[in-house]
Amino acid sequence: MATTEVLLDGTHDSRQLRNALGRFPTGVTVITTGAHGKREGLTANSFSALSLDPPLVLWSIVRKAASLPAFLASGHFAINVLAANQPEMSHRFATPAADKFGGLDVEDGLGGSPLLPGALASFECATERTIEGGDHILFVGRVLRMRYSDGDPLIFSGGRYCTALPMRSPTATQDIDAVWVGLG
Ligand SMILES: Cc1cc2nc3c(=O)[nH]c(=O)nc-3n(C[C@H](O)[C@H](O)[C@H](O)COP(=O)(O)O)c2cc1C
Repeated sequence: MATTEVLLDGTHDSRQLRNALGRFPTGVTVITTGAHGKREGLTANSFSALSLDPPLVLWSIVRKAASLPAFLASGHFAINVLAANQPEMSHRFATPAADKFGGLDVEDGLGGSPLLPGALASFECATERTIEGGDHILFVGRVLRMRYSDGDPLIFSGGRYCTALPMRSPTATQDIDAVWVGLG
């Protein structure tokens, strides 16, 4: 197995940072907002759980994103977790466009944040705070309402869309069960 080591001394190639970060697989979300009747949304894999009590989630948006002013103005956003059969939805919301919602049968969620059809889960949030983080702005949201369905998630790993295969090993399953029981 070939290993690459890079010292981050300011002269490194940012592609190498992306390559290393891409070793960490994530789900794929589309995060939406609906400030003043104008819908905005972007594909984001920076979404993460933050706190169970209170229920908080976080994600980050690049400062130069066209949709950033709408997210800052709105005070609400919705996380739409994409299902395994939605790579086109991911592509649509990762591509700049005047109206990314054309032809989509969306539902208006809390605060006017659009909920996408076919999503595996949605988290409707009020913005709790924003934090500056380098070339990104971090959004912390309080979850006000959520929905979830059965199905498989879309995965992003190594710069590619993938699907997840659950491990069938009984010991692996038992170990995870024990961890969750431990967390209450
Ligand atoms: C899988 C994937 C994950 C992404 N994750 C993020 C992210 O977490 N934050 C972000 O700012 N952009 C992310 N992007 C890029 C944005 O989706 C893209 O720049 C989009 O055009 C921004 O929309 P806007 O210009 O309408 O604001 C991601 C793109 C892809 C394909």
